[in-house]
Parts: sequence; C-alpha cells; structure tokens
Amino acid sequence: MKILIYPNYEQMSVAAARFVADCILDKPRCVLGLATGETPIGLYAELARLHHEEGLDFSGVTTFNLDEYCDLPKEDSRSFHSFMWRHLFSHVNVDPRKVHTLKGTAPDLEEECRRYESLIKDTGGIDLQVLGIGVNGHIGFNEPGSPPDGRTRVVTLTAQTVEINRAKEKVESLPGRAVSMGIGTIMDAKQILLLAAGRSKADIVHRATRGPVTPSVPASILQNHANALFMLDLEAASLLETGFLNTPCAAGECTV
Ligand code: F6R
Repeated sequence: MKILIYPNYEQMSVAAARFVADCILDKPRCVLGLATGETPIGLYAELARLHHEEGLDFSGVTTFNLDEYCDLPKEDSRSFHSFMWRHLFSHVNVDPRKVHTLKGTAPDLEEECRRYESLIKDTGGIDLQVLGIGVNGHIGFNEPGSPPDGRTRVVTLTAQTVEINRAKEKVESLPGRAVSMGIGTIMDAKQILLLAAGRSKADIVHRATRGPVTPSVPASILQNHANALFMLDLEAASLLETGFLNTPCAAGECTV
C-alpha cells in the first residue's frame, strides 16, 4: 500500500485527477470504478477541466459506480446516478452507453446485482477503482463486518452512515438500504485509488493503514491489495506519524 500526502484538499484532488488521466491516456478504453460523496468532487471538477482545457478524451472509457441507494428513482437528485451526472458525466465526453450505475429500483435486486457483476466481468474488469472512506471504515457501502470476499449485493446501512450522508447532502431523508459492490468486487480492481480529506477521517485512515486487517475496518483489507494507493490531505494523514504536521511537505507530496 502506498500513501501520498498533500498539503490540502485542492492539491490532493489535482494529483488524483492526474492519476486518473494517466490511466485514460495509457489505455483509452479503460474501465473506471467511481465513487460518490464529498471527497471525489474536487477530482471530478479537475477531470472536467482536463477534458475542456487539455482535451482529455473520455469517449472510450467505461465506468461502473460503486453503489446506489435502493428505492430512489435515478432521476431523484439524491441518487448517486444524479450525483455522477451533476459532477462528472455531463462535463466530459463520456459515451452514456458505457456508463453503468446500479439500479436501486430494480424489481429483482438480486438479479440486478448479478447483472452488474457479469457486466464488470464482460468488460474485462475494473482497471482503476476510485474510493472514499467512511468514518467507520466502509468502502463502497460495505459497512463494518462485511465479508472480505463479498460481491455486489443489497446492504443495510448503519444509522450513522445514513445520518452523516443526510447531513452532508442537506436532505430530509435517505433510504437505509443500498446496493453496493462487495469488498471482493473492489479487491478485483487492478488498481485502487482511495481519497481521504479532513480531520474527521484521520482516525479511520490510521486504523485502515496501520491497524490489523479486519472486517471490522473494511478499508483495512486494502492492505492486502497489490496496487492500493491512498491520497490524503494533511488533516486526514495527521495521525499517521507523531508530529507529522510539523514536517514540511517537499514539493507538495510525501510518501509514507
Ligand atoms: C460513495 C461511497 C462511500 C463514500 C464514503 C465517504 O460511493 O461508496 O463509501 O466514499 O462514505 O464519503 P465522503 O467522501 O462524503 O466522506
């Protein structure tokens, strides 16, 4: 596991976008796994800028989102489908036929999860999976206790996750159930890029990267991934090394 630390959220986002852009430049028909939430918003804004100002071409790219709430029509502004179009897809030249999100309103959710897994397999698997991390260590919507080899499935969210997301999204209510890629699905990605920013993530980043590998901290399982890269801002990295905040970051990034 490699960890890169940036002085602030903006620089972390720019570096993350450069990393994703390099993946697209290396393989124009690459398959990206994408996350929603506050953390990747800066990454998506920078990818949109790279498209507009530097011609980064998304036309060959296939995308799979990590998760989706159950029972929200995709047009609902709270759905992750809406989020992705708002923050990324409508700002780049992605081919809508190559954009995949889970349907949380599918009549048969088990079948929907199987469909998603086979679609990922049929495209050759995910080349680069972008992740955020919950304060409880969840990745995707794999809450603590999720099976390390789990596949895409229906999950029940913890009351804490629903409340944190409800407050962040400034909405009155959110469903307590979702469909999510499993940890096994995520671990199959060839490369992982996990982003974390802010003081509220410091403790869980420390536990996920320095603590034991355990299902009670789902992100810790990434320690077993051959190509996992964590990009952090200084605040999220603040518990990784005593006194780290007093250590200046040369050239905007440090490797731990
Ligand atoms: C989003 C997702 C979640 C978030 C996590 C962090 O698709 O699967 O795991 O990445 O909840 O969210 P933020 O970035 O809002 O702190």
